[in-house]
Order: sequence, then structure tokens, then C-alpha cells
Amino acid sequence: MTSTLPPPEQPGLERARITARTLRTDRWWSGPALTVLGLTAFLVYGLARALQQDHYWVQEYHYLTPFYSPCVAGQCAPDAAAFGRLPWDFPWFIPFAVISLPLLLLFRFTCYYYRKAYYRSFWQSPTACAVREPHAKYTGETRFPLILQNAHRYFFYAALLISVINTYDATVALFHGAEGGFGIGVGNLVLFTNVVLLWCYTLSCHSCRHVTGGRLRSFGSHPVRYRLWTMVSKLNTRHMTFAWITLGTLVLTDLYVALVASGVLTDLRIVN
Ligand code: FES
Repeated sequence: MTSTLPPPEQPGLERARITARTLRTDRWWSGPALTVLGLTAFLVYGLARALQQDHYWVQEYHYLTPFYSPCVAGQCAPDAAAFGRLPWDFPWFIPFAVISLPLLLLFRFTCYYYRKAYYRSFWQSPTACAVREPHAKYTGETRFPLILQNAHRYFFYAALLISVINTYDATVALFHGAEGGFGIGVGNLVLFTNVVLLWCYTLSCHSCRHVTGGRLRSFGSHPVRYRLWTMVSKLNTRHMTFAWITLGTLVLTDLYVALVASGVLTDLRIVN
């Protein structure tokens, strides 16, 4: 495809020479500012909780916070380590969920939506439409380190696996009610709500859309993939919404487990 943009050096068609950073008079800065606040709050909370290494597990009801799942350190409570423990204790600065947490963070960090959000808000490249960016050069994602953003599709597969593990955690907890059998408490509802929304975020990923419907010459001869692609595409239109909602539900789920585990809250039982 040929570009319709004129070459920048063509006489009379250069960029306008405006000294002001922008001529916009609306509150263009409010979106990026809120993004900085939201992402910073999540990172500070997540870091504090990952380093706390306590109150991540409710033994009575088998509630495990998603921040510590799968729990693999030698110090993990035996019942919390559904997939086994490594034979050594971790130092304080290594999170118990050392296998899943970096993959999950990289999945979000390389997410197309979050990229847009933090390129604008933190890196200001540019901060908003028609607002001049502070950088002299623009190389996009063609050079190191940003070229590594292309690994997002691989983190998608890791995130799928972690979503399965979170679903397993939430399901197992249903069979550890107050009397040892099946039971439902508010904690179960919290865990399941979080899992459903995590699935919505993961499956609405652009890489998932490509996996289901990409590289096909004709949908007509692939009706199942077409159906899957249609469903994923519908979710995909809400990807930004799921990105923000799941940041909130991850924090709320972790907070709920931490409060019950520390004895500050008592889990309200609906079915014992
Ligand atoms: Fe956002 Fe893949 S998770 S694009």
C-alpha cells in the first residue's frame, strides 16, 4: 500500500511551527493522569502484598489469593501448594508465586491496551492527540527493548494456563465448606467472580483473536474457527474495560482473602 502522506520536506507542507505544546483547551491530561494513578496504585499494592508473604491462604475454606497461585515456595502452607513445593525456602524478596507472577505481569505489561495506556501516561509518547511529545525521536517498537513487546503472544499462552490454575483453585475451595464437604461462602463468590472476569480479559486478548481467526484465507471452510473468532471479537471490543475491571477484582479478591486469613473478617457462609 502506498502512503498518501506528503513527504515532510515538501515546500509548503511542513508541520505547522507552533511553540505551544498544544492548542487544546479541554482536559486532555485527565485521562493520562488517572491512568498513572490507577496503574501506580495497583503496582504498589501488588508489590507490598507479594513481599508480605503472609495472609495468602485461608486453611478452613481453602481460599488461595490469585497473587500467590500456584504457591510453590518451600514455606507455602502444604494444602495451598496444590502443584507441589520446591524443596527450599525463598528469601523475603522472592514472591511465593515466583513462576506465575512474572508471566502474568509480562502478559499485562505487553498487552496492547496497557501499552497504549502507559506509552501515553508514563512515557508521554505522545500524551494525547495534538499534544506535542517531549521526545526528539520516535522509533516505535522497532528497536530494543520495545521490540520485545512482540513476545505478547507467548505470554498469552502462559496466561491461559494461569487462568486454568485460578479456576482450579476456585473450584477446589467449593469442596472445603465449614463442615469439610461442599460449601459456598462469600469468599467462593469472590474467587469465582474474579476467575470469570480474568477469563474475559484473557480471552478478549488481541492475540487470542488472532489465534482463533488469524491466517485464514476463507472463513467459509472453517466454520468452528469463525464462530470462535466471532465470540472472541465481541469480547475484544471490551478489552480495555476488562483490563481495568480485572485490576480492581484482583486487588479486591486478594484483599478479601488477606482479611479473612488474618482474622479481621469472618467469611459469611451461604451454604455450609
Ligand atoms: Fe491485552 Fe493481549 S492481553 S492485547
